[in-house]
Amino acid sequence: MNKCIILAAGAGTRMKSNQPKVLHEILNKPMLHYVIEASKGFNPGKTILITGHGTEAVEKKFEAYPNIAFALQPIGEGEPYGTGYAAMQALPYVEDEDKVLILSGDTPLITEKTLKDLENYYIEGGYSGVILSATTDDLVGYGRIIRDISGEFTAIREDRDCNPKEKKITEINGGIYLFSGKCLREGLASIDDDNAQGEYYLTDVVEVLSNKGYRVGAYNMGVTQELDGINSRAQLAQANNAMKMRINEHLMNEGVTIIDPENTWIGPNVEVGKDSIIWPGAVLEGDTKIGEATIIRGTTRIVDSSIGNGVTVESSLIENSVVGNDVTIGPFAHLRPNAVLEDNVKIGNFVEVKNATMKSGSKASHLSYVGDASVGERVNIGCGVIFVNYDGKNKFKSVIEDDAFVGSNSNVVAPVHVGKGAFIAAGSTVTCDVNEDTLVIARAKEVVKEGWSKRSALKEKSKEDNRE
Ligand code: UD1
Ligand code: CA
Repeated sequence: MNKCIILAAGAGTRMKSNQPKVLHEILNKPMLHYVIEASKGFNPGKTILITGHGTEAVEKKFEAYPNIAFALQPIGEGEPYGTGYAAMQALPYVEDEDKVLILSGDTPLITEKTLKDLENYYIEGGYSGVILSATTDDLVGYGRIIRDISGEFTAIREDRDCNPKEKKITEINGGIYLFSGKCLREGLASIDDDNAQGEYYLTDVVEVLSNKGYRVGAYNMGVTQELDGINSRAQLAQANNAMKMRINEHLMNEGVTIIDPENTWIGPNVEVGKDSIIWPGAVLEGDTKIGEATIIRGTTRIVDSSIGNGVTVESSLIENSVVGNDVTIGPFAHLRPNAVLEDNVKIGNFVEVKNATMKSGSKASHLSYVGDASVGERVNIGCGVIFVNYDGKNKFKSVIEDDAFVGSNSNVVAPVHVGKGAFIAAGSTVTCDVNEDTLVIARAKEVVKEGWSKRSALKEKSKEDNRE
């Protein structure tokens, strides 16, 4: 069976964080997520995640992933440490006849395709163990690939254990390995912690196997970002940028116009239909789906939402909402969770919609709050309308039927039902149900006093005269 071990127990000291390193995010997903996704290229029957630092948090994030098992590496004063010791924790899951892929939780740019290539290299070369290597001039912290005079790969030397000559080697270990179950077990049984860091190095398994006469291979990818490890915040930023460009290039290949790919952040699970145009500043996150020929402009953030075709969104925040076709939103609108906008709806400047449905053709063009409401078709919600949904303890719902007109600066005090074609006059505070085709005016009666300003000015003046 194919098994996958992912090393994710390390402290991540260089991140200077209270959070385990592998939970630091790339495009709003933990870096470890990308490693698990890429491992699908190897079809593992089981994935064993080695946790240690922050184990509860890591388990909680990943327990729902398919075929996953957790092996806890004991962490603490006096405990052995190192990638080799981490891999040993997975041995109870490993059978001799397994093929075992070992990945590092901090190398998230690796792809499914490369892991497939590595497996083919392993099978075709008849190897007992293979690793992925790369050529780089940014060598700090990477183990170097040691080859004998005939060019055969024989060992990995850690940066801190290299002599000056070895330090100059530009082929580095990517931290990704494939061993037969038998050789992994045999190799791990023979490593020790006699090195600069006093750690059990997984990398030493290669030398052990090579010395025992097993065939080991290094699959050199040349210059690549795929093996970039994340040990610091600066490397995290670089990985975010690399992943962003990878996703944006994929979407552009699928027919999406991204005006400025450097400044457009789209998550790995986001789908965008062809002929949509994404302007700089957009952030599309989570399980968001954007239809075809939709335009997203300005500082817009869309999270876990579905947006239809031919929609225009300008400088707005949309969360957990569903938007139909040919809708316009913004600028500066906020769709909070469970806003459902059907086709041809218009949501304008400074409008907030929450847990509310607006059916086809309805409009709230300016400065409104539409919360806990069901709004029918072709309803006009005037400027400054507030759906008063909360009495300090409970939330209530309002229903506005088709073709109703809610005049500007009205309050709809829930629970209230406004019938079809009803007309609420501007400035009304509506607390009772309104029947179909009815006009309601619920505001103080206007009082008109002709010449009042002049009279009151005269009064003021005579007061002042008396004071002097
Ligand atoms: C490791 C390799 C190095 C390689 C580099 C590639 C070793 C000894 N060195 O170095 O040759 O060039 O990766 O990125 O393997 N971990 C545990 N338990 C531990 C220690 C680490 O689970 O006790 C995990 C970490 O969480 C991390 C991974 O193993 O996900 C790699 O550990 P890290 O300390 O980052 O190794 P590097 O120093 O980068
Ligand atoms: Ca690392």
